[in-house]
Amino acid sequence: MNATGSMGLAVAVRPCCRLLAAQLLFKCPRTHRRPAAAAAAAAAPFLLRCPRPRRNFSRYPRPLPQRRSAAAWVRAAVAPARNEAAVSHVRPLSTSAGPGAGSVPGGDKAFERIFVQGLNAVKPLVIERVEREEKAEEDETEKERAEVAKEKEASESEKEAWLLLKNAVVSYCGSPVGTVAANDPMVEPLNYDQVFIRDFMPSALAFLLKGETEIVRNFLLYTLQLQSWEKTVDCYSPGQGLMPASFKVTNLAHGSNGEVEEVLDPDFGESAIGRVAPVDSGLWWIILLRAYGKISGDNSILERVDVQTGIKLILNLCLSDGFDMFPTLLVTDGSCMIDRRMGIHGHPLEIQALFYGALRCSREMLVVNDGSKSLLRAINNRLSALSFHIREYYWADMKKVNEIYRYKTEEYSQDAINKFNIYPEQIPGWLVDWIPEKGGYFIGNLQPAHMDFRFFSLGNLWAIASSLATPRQAEGILDLIEDKWEDLVGTMPLKISYPAIENEEWQITTGSDPKNTPWSYHNGGSWPTLLWQFTLACIKMGRPELARRAIATAEDRLAKDNWPEYYDTPSGRFIGKQSRLYQTWTVAGFLTSKLLLENPELASILTFEEDLELLEGCACSLIKSSRTKCSRSAAKSHVFV
Ligand code: GLC
Repeated sequence: MNATGSMGLAVAVRPCCRLLAAQLLFKCPRTHRRPAAAAAAAAAPFLLRCPRPRRNFSRYPRPLPQRRSAAAWVRAAVAPARNEAAVSHVRPLSTSAGPGAGSVPGGDKAFERIFVQGLNAVKPLVIERVEREEKAEEDETEKERAEVAKEKEASESEKEAWLLLKNAVVSYCGSPVGTVAANDPMVEPLNYDQVFIRDFMPSALAFLLKGETEIVRNFLLYTLQLQSWEKTVDCYSPGQGLMPASFKVTNLAHGSNGEVEEVLDPDFGESAIGRVAPVDSGLWWIILLRAYGKISGDNSILERVDVQTGIKLILNLCLSDGFDMFPTLLVTDGSCMIDRRMGIHGHPLEIQALFYGALRCSREMLVVNDGSKSLLRAINNRLSALSFHIREYYWADMKKVNEIYRYKTEEYSQDAINKFNIYPEQIPGWLVDWIPEKGGYFIGNLQPAHMDFRFFSLGNLWAIASSLATPRQAEGILDLIEDKWEDLVGTMPLKISYPAIENEEWQITTGSDPKNTPWSYHNGGSWPTLLWQFTLACIKMGRPELARRAIATAEDRLAKDNWPEYYDTPSGRFIGKQSRLYQTWTVAGFLTSKLLLENPELASILTFEEDLELLEGCACSLIKSSRTKCSRSAAKSHVFV
């Protein structure tokens, strides 16, 4: 966790009623904005007005909208879905920047005009659901029905979890906008009282799956505004598309009458320990946007100019040219869920899996027009190269490890087998005995002359969900988890990484970090929030029983232990040394897992299927030299392991 620092930086503070002079605190001589963002910021004063400024800030002042069952929600969502005209008609889009706002007078002039052409790709789930339901109904066995009925009875743990989740909601200008990271009354909050973008994912999904969409829409639109904010670290401004790691709602007193105004105060990493940029935030934002659009049928959000611009800004950052030789995204250590030094600098799997997922989402959501054509081309090329690279070079199974074991080194040529010059001595002792006969996984990181063979759960699970993994690899990952249940699930699902690094390696890799000691926290600790991603992957691969088994292991214990952030020891027996209690993403991860199992067809708001067209691009150019005719099946046979 990153403690909030007290440095006098030019903090990006956004008042909800009008722009306040946070920039007056301290300003570096040169800061700049890109035109689109400048336009959005210029429009902001009109749009961020609080309906009624309040004197006191209460965490959640008004009741949540009435809850409906998922089925009722899906029925209700048919209405916007049927309104085809709203989607397919060519018409100018709203230029608004505020969550509830319509168009701003004269606002169009400030933005490039975008016309809706291709949004039908984000097919509201409702339609897909109706199609699938017919088939599913035929297939459903009596046993499955009984299981689902049982799942629908809310357990005591679930009831408690819902109360905790609602209590964690943060509001801004009277509307719910996110959930705090933790609500542990026994310890100083540090920045756990903030809304973290990545932590909000399972909360958002729990709300969405329950039919409560308002909080998610607000979250998406307010964080979007934070993206365009001016931020500096020691007089340096990071890229415009960067999304904050977290934000908080603060009260700002102004004027002589003591009026208190709420402001959104983001942290882009300028206060974080190590000052690391949260690369995953923007990727999560894109993934959540698609899920929201699919489940709510609210395509209007995707049509907005500010939303389209937001997606483009994130992608521009990710796709900009650099010195890199690989299609994977180059990042510093700690740029994702593991937000401290843990040897995951370079091309860590977690970022690559989220990157791939976000690219697939963007490809569906970007409006096709002259202004986006080249970006869409770049997305397709990158998807193709990225999946090829990860599938080929990150995959480890018995056969591959044996190949590496026999690698020749120092091969200078384009035909080298050992492309990254990996010395076989790097194969760690633990792997030799651990790698199962059946199944495999994606390694944690790949660099010149370096393979990090640790197993990282999030990256592997997202590789399944997003179809970065081939179907066979995805099966293999679940086979491995099943085979290594004691190591990866043990008494609390799920290990964030396996195995822990110890002794000298720990000293060098973590910089002797006392929080990341062996089998604790990010270094081999167990994180119950990962349950929802595991459930998602299991549902996608048609193996929900594995998820049920993991949830059964966690359910009673989580409630009894007061929903800790993480667990320690090789099997996850102890509550983590410095673990918070009442950690929101633990609570929400559990609820989301339950809801996904109840409504497995809704998993598709987050998942993707294999797209052979995408594979053609890279595979065909690789086999161009041979006489093989380039076709989808050639691509398939080349890329599938
Ligand atoms: C820790 C986790 C990070 C999470 C944050 C808030 O720093 O490593 O992933 O976002 O806590 O819960």
